Amino acid sequence: MNRTRVAIASLIRPHLRAAEPYQPVQSLEALSAEIGIPVDRIAKLDANENPYGPSPQVLAKLAGYRGFHRYPDPIHDDLRAALGAYWGAAPERIVLGAGADELIDLICRLFLGPEDEVIDLVPTFGMYRFSTEIAGAVYRPVRRRADFSVDVAAVRPALTPRTKLIWVAAPNNPTGTPLDPADAEALAALGVPLVIDEAYAEFSGVTFRALAERLEHVMLLRTFSKWAGLAGLRIGYGLFPPAVAEALLTIKPPYNVNVAAAVAARAALEDADHRERTVAAILAERGRLVGTLAASPYLRPIPSAANFVFCSVVGASARALRDALRRRGVLVRYYDTPLLENAIRVSVGRPEDTDQLAAALAAVRPEEVDA
Ligand SMILES: Cc1ncc(COP(=O)(O)O)c(C=O)c1O
Repeated sequence: MNRTRVAIASLIRPHLRAAEPYQPVQSLEALSAEIGIPVDRIAKLDANENPYGPSPQVLAKLAGYRGFHRYPDPIHDDLRAALGAYWGAAPERIVLGAGADELIDLICRLFLGPEDEVIDLVPTFGMYRFSTEIAGAVYRPVRRRADFSVDVAAVRPALTPRTKLIWVAAPNNPTGTPLDPADAEALAALGVPLVIDEAYAEFSGVTFRALAERLEHVMLLRTFSKWAGLAGLRIGYGLFPPAVAEALLTIKPPYNVNVAAAVAARAALEDADHRERTVAAILAERGRLVGTLAASPYLRPIPSAANFVFCSVVGASARALRDALRRRGVLVRYYDTPLLENAIRVSVGRPEDTDQLAAALAAVRPEEVDA
């Protein structure tokens, strides 16, 4: 036997060999080259980003910062203090991550072993499943109701002594559905660690902080990707009971949040005016977007508490509609899965993005989108 040859792929842990990759959206540059439309003429409404970008104060702070040659503070003391003040929470309960995504992964690493079970209220954000499966735990999806509200009665029979976590996004992605406070209480009353993901809370104006303060097993996640326009810098945070926060700080990679992200987040927190104006602009534009979508014969938008709108597609193929819009420089996300049949999700853009979408929808020919 040739000892110098190793079948290296066979050494990958079995549960990781079969893992499904997360489906990211295509880069704007690659897409621009493919469809022949310059980047600045594309209405990018497919990733729930903030179309206005960060506050000018954030950009000025980054431009003037002189410490990029130094490693970041692993404990993020200053930023946790600033977040504590912003959120009215004790800084020692706050942990930062490279996006809320990294916190989802760290929570899985902290709580889950093989055979532990995780309940997810589907359809929802894909990272809960992704990180659960990467951690080697057992993923137990529980379907939401037809209107995408949480069905707590359906969760109860899915609980077992091995259930270690329940994920719930509030509002939910991709449907925009808010979490009813009574359902949040009922989920918490199940007595299993509950993570409420408030990535879009600045748009819904609803937080479950009081619940998390009252009950040790309720944890919250937040992000700077949406309201603060910092998706590309990757910074999010969570509110945890002190013992969990300490454990997360212990197991996280020491320099998980880079210096630029920390500087930008700090400056974003200081510019409350910008936050209020941006959120107000997005909420106002969401109203126009819903009107534009509802005016299309193919789309049935549903109410949203977030910065995007989910629509069933009727009398047309969602995928073909996505492609037809894409050819006209408008990017939306489409779904065609058993849980989300023939649907699209459209992020709220600037007024000119909504105008471009309206023009593209009006120009789509029926033969382009045949179901
Ligand atoms: C519900 C939800 N949670 C978390 C995230 C990820 O946030 P971040 O960019 O901070 O990783 C998203 C991003 O789309 C999301 O929709």
